[in-house]
Amino acid sequence: MRRYVIAGNWKMNFTPSQATAFINEIKPMVAGKDNCDIVFCAPYVTIAAAMEAAKGSNIKIGAENVHFEQKGAFTGEVSAEMLREIGVEYVIIGHSERRQYFGETDETVNKRTKAALAAGMKVILCLGEVKEQRLAGITKEIVSMQTKLDLADVSAEDMKNVIIAYEPVWAIGTGLTATPEQADETCGQIREALAEIYGAEVAEATIIQYGGSMNDANAAELLAKPNVDGGLIGGASLVAKKFTAIVDAAQ
Ligand code: 13P
Repeated sequence: MRRYVIAGNWKMNFTPSQATAFINEIKPMVAGKDNCDIVFCAPYVTIAAAMEAAKGSNIKIGAENVHFEQKGAFTGEVSAEMLREIGVEYVIIGHSERRQYFGETDETVNKRTKAALAAGMKVILCLGEVKEQRLAGITKEIVSMQTKLDLADVSAEDMKNVIIAYEPVWAIGTGLTATPEQADETCGQIREALAEIYGAEVAEATIIQYGGSMNDANAAELLAKPNVDGGLIGGASLVAKKFTAIVDAAQ
């Protein structure tokens, strides 16, 4: 059985003090809700404060990116070893905003994924089609290609530490959500691609989240679908009541 993972992606929101206040607010609200893993991925400078506030709770704190080189002349980048040393367990890789605004490609996503896995971290690997691709009827081809390229040379053993977040780009921050049927169908197509690479057992065991305007109002329907194993949540992860409602939907 796959376990739900409900993860917030704070993006470029929350200073350290704001994150501390938020975690202190939400901690009692999600206490004891153990039918899912709860993760917030935070900006680098906010991670330590969020972790400190989350200590002793069922909330885990992750990062939003990681560089693929171990160290050296890569101004502005942060390595997997640096994140591990401060106790970071989860890292988002390949978010569409990074692909769109920061030149991230399937090749760099694959390199970052391998570096994070080699450092013993859990990767939340984001992929998904843009609107034109959905309208052209090639969503399945796109997500299957991304799955294969982004996971090139990742072993079946390492797949235990990979969560895939299916995020249709047209649904991110737009208020447009994929219907539960669309989310289920595309998560299923990603699972098919995983089966082609790794076989049915790995494909069935891999957690596949949906992301894209998931909120307190639509989470229950989305999470009820057999191929949707959790959510990667942007806007609604900044509001304690909304995020808690999503956690509740996963109970
Ligand atoms: P929204 O929930 O704000 O649409 O963002 C989704 C997302 O990009 C999560 O990574």
